[in-house]
Amino acid sequence: MSLQLTFSTSDRFFRKSSFLLWPTGSGAPNSRTYLCPANMQNEDLFKQVVAHAKEYGFVFQSSELYDGLSAVYDYGQNGVELKKNIREYWWRSMVQLHQNIVGLDSAIFMHPRIWKASGHVDGFNDPMIDNKDSKKRYRADVLLEDYQEKNRQKIQKEVEKAAKRFGASFDESMFIKTNPRIQELAAANERIDQILKDGLESGELGIVKSLIEELGIVCPVSGTKNWTDVRQFNLMYSTQMSATENGEDSLYLRPETAQGIFVNFLNVQKTGRMKIPFGIAQTGKAFRNEIVARQFILRMKEFEQMEMQFFCKPGTELTWYSHWKEARMKWHLSLGADVRHYRFHDHVKMAHYANAAVDIEFEFPFGFKEVEGIHSRTDFDLGRHEEFSGKKIRYFDPESNDSYIPYVVETSIGLDRMFLLTLCRCFKTDLSGGEPRTLLSLPPALAPIKAAILPLIKKDGLPELAERIFNDLRYDFACYYEEKDTIGKRYRRMDAIGTPYCITVDHESLAQEDVTLRHRDSMHQERVKISALRDILSANTGMNNLLRSL
Ligand code: GAP
Repeated sequence: MSLQLTFSTSDRFFRKSSFLLWPTGSGAPNSRTYLCPANMQNEDLFKQVVAHAKEYGFVFQSSELYDGLSAVYDYGQNGVELKKNIREYWWRSMVQLHQNIVGLDSAIFMHPRIWKASGHVDGFNDPMIDNKDSKKRYRADVLLEDYQEKNRQKIQKEVEKAAKRFGASFDESMFIKTNPRIQELAAANERIDQILKDGLESGELGIVKSLIEELGIVCPVSGTKNWTDVRQFNLMYSTQMSATENGEDSLYLRPETAQGIFVNFLNVQKTGRMKIPFGIAQTGKAFRNEIVARQFILRMKEFEQMEMQFFCKPGTELTWYSHWKEARMKWHLSLGADVRHYRFHDHVKMAHYANAAVDIEFEFPFGFKEVEGIHSRTDFDLGRHEEFSGKKIRYFDPESNDSYIPYVVETSIGLDRMFLLTLCRCFKTDLSGGEPRTLLSLPPALAPIKAAILPLIKKDGLPELAERIFNDLRYDFACYYEEKDTIGKRYRRMDAIGTPYCITVDHESLAQEDVTLRHRDSMHQERVKISALRDILSANTGMNNLLRSL
């Protein structure tokens, strides 16, 4: 079968609200959280991360040899390991740690009616607008969101200025409530939200165009306001099931993995004798025709999702929603991120079938962006599949002795986005030793290589002993053996890919049966017995400690 990708055309379901103003301060994340530290808003840092990802074999542009394919990327020798470890941490935290969550691997190709039932055929659209001078295409809602972000930054500046002026006596929330300039900016943002919502819901896209014109939004490339009308584009790719392209066999590349879970609900529930509440977890590729692909692997046309649909009794869904919201934030923070770089972004305007939705956002060098969504999807999906398939999708509850369509709470995280987050968060330049040292301070359990075994020099029996250590450890840990270059250069290469430990074999090792263990982040070196290495690596690089912290 030849895979033909054609572009089919047509509001994303979970359209976001503007932020509420959020208070400064620390503590556990809640729905009105964190100011971003100014030093993270750093485009240069991001450029360095992107260059580093390529130089050290983490991420390559797809089809680079043929000048590349926009918004599609390949993972290199270190990237694939890091990605696999993030996926594994998610999977084990969801499936291994929960007796009532099981896994699934459903096919990418699914019956086309599934996408009609899910609403993707009619409603999975982005409103696009073109600039006639630059011929560049933009998402109309993103142009407006960027405008709103500028307003939020202005508000932030006003708050910071006032905090400096008033010192310890500054009452931030009172200032926000009463300052006329802030009120004006916040009202402007609310108005944009309202007009955008009205335009998208009613299909009157003319009012969205008029708003873009009224706000004087210009094309970042041409600098002009010469805009086309706003039109809806469907984000699904379509292809053919068979060789004959008569349109009847056309099907879609899945834009989310969730539907594969919904259509297998009964299969898993019955064969696994699952009792509600229970969850089904799945990781896999999803495809979206993202016209405006930006910021490296943040928004791709082919990407991977890690999703879990939690089926519960109607009426209990909001309790489970709160549970998963907190549990997922805990998962993120378990990886060592500073709590101030995370925030919740509640959706104020809900999709018609959702009764609660929130994004977990991370502060990338280019600002806060969604990494994961937690959505209370009610019985919409299972109900629609019941309707479209003509088959009952009900759960008989032995406790209440009734049968119902379960409600669903979904957790949906992008693996590639989590990967980018991890790179951005862990990329560091250490200036403490004079010469700048680039390192990835990855959580050891996520590091592509756990230990590098390095003979100090290539003779006197040091390579033989180092190889013996390598051959002993490699069955349990991802290890790397290298004897080329000076030991300093080898340490730097391992720092750059995030290897937490370097084990150096020197002349003393031959007599004493010990080695130098070098720690990546502190560069601290200690002498340890060869016989102790396995226990040290197990205790410090395994995933169990991370899992236990959840
Ligand atoms: N099943 C629900 C769903 O798909 P979503 O908010 O559209 O919800 C979930 O996507 C997550 O998938 C996002 O939080 C993001 O991390 C990731 N994601 C979505 N579109 C993406 C894209 N084009 N490229 C990379 N990751 C993407």
